[in-house]
Amino acid sequence: MDRIVVTGNGPLSGAIQISGAKNACLALMPATLLSESPLTLTNAPRLSDIRMMATLLRSLGAEVSSLADGKVLALSSHALTGSRAEYDIVRKMRASILVLGPLLARLGHAEVSLPGGCAIGARPVDLHLRALEAMGAELDLRDGYVHARAPGGRLKGARVVFPLVSVGATENALLAATLAKGTTVLENAAREPEIVDLARCLRAMGARIGGEGTATITVEGVDSLGGATHEVVADRIELGTYMLAPVITGGEVDLLGGRLDLVEAFVEKLHAADVEVTQTNRGIRVKRANGVVRAVDVATAPFPGFPTDLQAQMMALLSTAQGVSRLEETIFENRFMHAPELARMGARIDVQGGVATVTGVERLKGAPVMATDLRASVSLILAGLAAEGETVVSRVYHLDRGYERVEEKLGACGAKIERIAGEGSAEAMAEEGVS
Ligand code: UD1
Repeated sequence: MDRIVVTGNGPLSGAIQISGAKNACLALMPATLLSESPLTLTNAPRLSDIRMMATLLRSLGAEVSSLADGKVLALSSHALTGSRAEYDIVRKMRASILVLGPLLARLGHAEVSLPGGCAIGARPVDLHLRALEAMGAELDLRDGYVHARAPGGRLKGARVVFPLVSVGATENALLAATLAKGTTVLENAAREPEIVDLARCLRAMGARIGGEGTATITVEGVDSLGGATHEVVADRIELGTYMLAPVITGGEVDLLGGRLDLVEAFVEKLHAADVEVTQTNRGIRVKRANGVVRAVDVATAPFPGFPTDLQAQMMALLSTAQGVSRLEETIFENRFMHAPELARMGARIDVQGGVATVTGVERLKGAPVMATDLRASVSLILAGLAAEGETVVSRVYHLDRGYERVEEKLGACGAKIERIAGEGSAEAMAEEGVS
């Protein structure tokens, strides 16, 4: 198993190119299942989760080729041969559930394994299933699989009111609604930029969609969809993560391709912490405004709120801020597993239920630590950049699911970071299903 060794090496400076969004790409790829015509995704990130989705789509008969060194994905589902997403893939990556809506919409039936638990809480899929049921799907949960059928071979437009905001359930329902008969209205829909990106791509394929980016999305079903070429939106979580690298080390970094509108709530908190964030014509430039980072209180929320996927990284920063910060996690239970690891590096963090109280310390100290999920792993790397001495992060297969070439990107800005190769690929290791 690979490990990453980070040695505190002072302020980082330079530029980091932001990749296409993993979470957008994972929802865009299943869109191929809706159409006989080719779908081309440019600006795709080169990540193990993306390769896993490609494997799943191929198992259904889709063709997926990786071009331009993996940055372009050419997908085609002109001849689907299967409608069953096997447990072996789904358990490794929850986003696999996103093939359910499109398969059902295109073929009128599908069998998808239930994902099971994962490291950051129960994460059920009931909202995905309720939405599809509202659209007329008949569901049978048997042998750990959802067996789904659309009576008469086609889903029906419906009014779907989500009891709570879910990114994945909104995506599944949106994908399915494009080919349903009639109009679907999704209420209390997720507003994340990844949803907007998916709607744009589906529209380029011929779908009739309005209201994406608001809480109400309207979809007028069409009989068939065509092909499209779509550029994957920038990864706002990768962006936010790397925005913290110059802040935690006291340097100055340009995030190329970064867009402020993707990270507004996050930037608001950085301003409160006394960080300077400037939009330039190349992207976003970040540095401390006055030398010290101040404590801030943060509560995660669905977009446009502070993203849960940046909570662990923010905790790493606030571990070295001046004062006491309060971090509240409202989206996922059990998403503070990085706290004890940061504590091994000298951070002072007290977790009570969904709230972590972080008392800033002058300096973190390098230590052997263990990544417990994707965002936790990168928070430990950020902490390592600012720590005195050597931090060895093990279980970095989590990191490889969501961060492309992290050593190269940070190394180019002066970080001392190297990967020590071990046995086992990211795919083989990804047993915990966090994405
Ligand atoms: C997506 C992101 C993930 C991010 C999360 C929240 C992908 C591949 N992953 O995950 O990185 O952390 O959004 O921004 O895009 N819930 C239910 N029933 C359901 C579905 C969700 O109760 O059927 C709950 C979840 O347990 C959680 C909350 O709803 O408490 C939000 O989860 P959701 O937005 O669905 O997250 P994902 O789409 O799985």
